[in-house]
Amino acid sequence: MSAGDLSGKKALVTGGAFVPLDVTDDGAWAEAVTATIAELGGFDVLVNNAGIEISALVVDIDAADLARMLQVNVGGTALGLKHAFRAMRPGGAAGAGGSVVNVASVAATIAFPGIAGYSATKAAVDRLTRVAAMEAGKLGYGVRVNCIYPGLVPTEMGIQLAVDCTRMGLFESPDAAVAGVVQQTPLGRLGEVSDMADAVVFLASDSARFITGAGLPIDGGMGM
Ligand SMILES: NC(=O)c1ccc[n+]([C@@H]2O[C@H](COP(=O)([O-])OP(=O)(O)OC[C@H]3O[C@@H](n4cnc5c(N)ncnc54)[C@H](O)[C@@H]3O)[C@@H](O)[C@H]2O)c1
Repeated sequence: MSAGDLSGKKALVTGGAFVPLDVTDDGAWAEAVTATIAELGGFDVLVNNAGIEISALVVDIDAADLARMLQVNVGGTALGLKHAFRAMRPGGAAGAGGSVVNVASVAATIAFPGIAGYSATKAAVDRLTRVAAMEAGKLGYGVRVNCIYPGLVPTEMGIQLAVDCTRMGLFESPDAAVAGVVQQTPLGRLGEVSDMADAVVFLASDSARFITGAGLPIDGGMGM
């Protein structure tokens, strides 16, 4: 499938190819994993990166927004783990073990105002990681499972959060929100996508061969 056929950004990267995937769709996961193995001849790394963030003060939490975040952030990660384990474990369609890296958030480790629902979903991703790592180890799947806690990164989501913080009256402007985060960060800057990617590559690689069930902060010290 060419990039031009993609109807949005929801895709699983498989080498040079892309497979559209809604992470909340169990059947789509099965198809994406099958396509991945057909394309690459194996499947040994999964990064559960898809996520959504809908800001709200606790007094304004919307049940539908909360349910959607749970569905994507928690449900999507859980389904990814399910299909990765089935494929990677001995006797699975790939069968050679592997590594799963879940993308949680510094929000799972600190209390940042305006994102209670999102923070709850990322704390759930943290727990999913631990239990999945335990099962995979105890049941001999040969799959390690870890997560990262990114700090604020100025992607579409990160920029929107700064705007939302202003709308919610937490900061005077998006720039002030960013400055507040930087001020809370010992290394004195926002995160970059490459900071996250390097950590994910490490956890997915054999350099991390004795690491499972861990959560790695990639936040410049914001969450310490
Ligand atoms: N940007 C930050 O400051 C920050 C901080 C901590 C954690 N994170 C986490 O990092 C991950 C990446 O976030 P980002 O900053 O790149 O956000 P982003 O909004 O820029 O990108 C999120 C991506 O997830 C995809 N997505 C959403 N719902 C999906 C679904 N149902 N199926 C498949 N794909 C879906 C979107 O299409 C988009 O490409 C997320 O899990 C996010 O929660 C981000």
